[in-house]
Amino acid sequence: MGFRKDFMWGGATAANQCEGGIFEGNRGLANVDVCPSGPDRSAVITGQKKMLRMDEDHSYPAAEAIDMYHHFREDIKLFGEMGFKVYRLSIAWTRIFPKGDEQEPNAEGLQFYEEIFKECRKYQIQPLVTISHFDCPVHLIEAYGGWRNRKLIDFYLRLCEVLFRHYKDYVTYWLTFNEINMILHAPFMGAGLCFEEGEDQEKAKYQAAHHELVASALATKLAHEINPENKVGCMFAAGSAYPYSCKPQDVWEALLTDQENYFFVDVQARGYYPSYAVKRLEKKGVFPQMEPGDEKMLQSWPVDFISFSYYNSRCVAAPGGEQEEAEGNLFRSVKNPYLKFSEWGWPIDPLGLRITLNQVYDRYQKPLFVVENGLGAVDTPDENGYVEDDYRIDYLREHIRAMKAAVEEDGVDLIGYTSWGPIDLISASTGEMKKRYGFIYVDKQEDGSGTLRRFKKKSFEWYKRVIETNGEDL
Ligand code: BG6
Repeated sequence: MGFRKDFMWGGATAANQCEGGIFEGNRGLANVDVCPSGPDRSAVITGQKKMLRMDEDHSYPAAEAIDMYHHFREDIKLFGEMGFKVYRLSIAWTRIFPKGDEQEPNAEGLQFYEEIFKECRKYQIQPLVTISHFDCPVHLIEAYGGWRNRKLIDFYLRLCEVLFRHYKDYVTYWLTFNEINMILHAPFMGAGLCFEEGEDQEKAKYQAAHHELVASALATKLAHEINPENKVGCMFAAGSAYPYSCKPQDVWEALLTDQENYFFVDVQARGYYPSYAVKRLEKKGVFPQMEPGDEKMLQSWPVDFISFSYYNSRCVAAPGGEQEEAEGNLFRSVKNPYLKFSEWGWPIDPLGLRITLNQVYDRYQKPLFVVENGLGAVDTPDENGYVEDDYRIDYLREHIRAMKAAVEEDGVDLIGYTSWGPIDLISASTGEMKKRYGFIYVDKQEDGSGTLRRFKKKSFEWYKRVIETNGEDL
């Protein structure tokens, strides 16, 4: 009973939120580097405001982040001390191909990740690599228009091929795109899209999504050809939609919301565009242009497993209602009156994780991996840098309990769990540093000051014990 013996416990980060060092190692500029903190961020990440260069009027949190570029040895050692079995990280595309369309990769970038993988090996930590975590070279946006251009498929596959070959001895678990459904909500992050005046934005988003879906299928093919041991997963931002009431119109709205989300995984896991998507996209006139052979490609190389992030459930009401809106992972939903909320207004719903696990497993019958989950909170260290983060422990404990129930009582095939941000890092949605998720506190403050020293929080020892006991001692 309980979690499987080889359950993969660990933590997850993304290059642009922790590495920094964006001008080092011959790295090129990426979309995520030019997302400023402050009031313009939202317009930039949603593609409504085009800012492809850094300027002096803004600050750019990815530039230094928590400087893992120089601290990775120390950080991975701490992950090892917690007993991590797996560390989910992402590759900065621009470290490997600074502009994105070169023929040859950048040796320094390849070397950097090799060092990381070697370090992981020291502590028997298996890497789980996200090939693209909201990451697109700026050059590919300027010269090609980002993922709305089909050429991106080739550039992405060139990246994949280099990674699969170069790291063959180190990595067998891969994710093709982080939160692929985020294209619909933050298209600049998800697909390097900045919209032109008068452009049909929905059309551009679904065209870009189609290119990513084809790229994902071809990457899966390539991964299996290069190393039959490779396991490739999709990744989406999950969280089931609840109807606000049992009014059929609310129930219908919730179903539509779930379908919009599942669309991507339906294609990646089942291998074809689901009929609801065909009808609705055609009706709206945004069905993507396909090339002959695309359908066959999607069908031939579905993913091996399904991974997702879960922070909260969503609550949905029929249009025209007067319900108050809730915050949450860039998705709009109404406030669920039965839930508590984080300091950032995100609902807290551990049972929602069990519900989501069941729904996803019922739908696809493939192994599942929870690759993000956690609580973003303000931490206040004492004079020794120690944070008593019982609120974080409570959040994680209840979510792990819910996963356990899904495994033990519902028979869901769950292979691993990587909590989000095991070390504090910068927030994707707001660019803030004060929104912390880690077991490890980083002395980096909102204004950019700080020593960058690392300190263990109370949750560090707690999570270590969770891993040691394979989720029994919570
Ligand atoms: C997910 C992303 O959307 O949520 C992460 O994959 C992100 O990159 C995480 O950091 C938490 O969101 P935020 O906005 O609190 O950083």
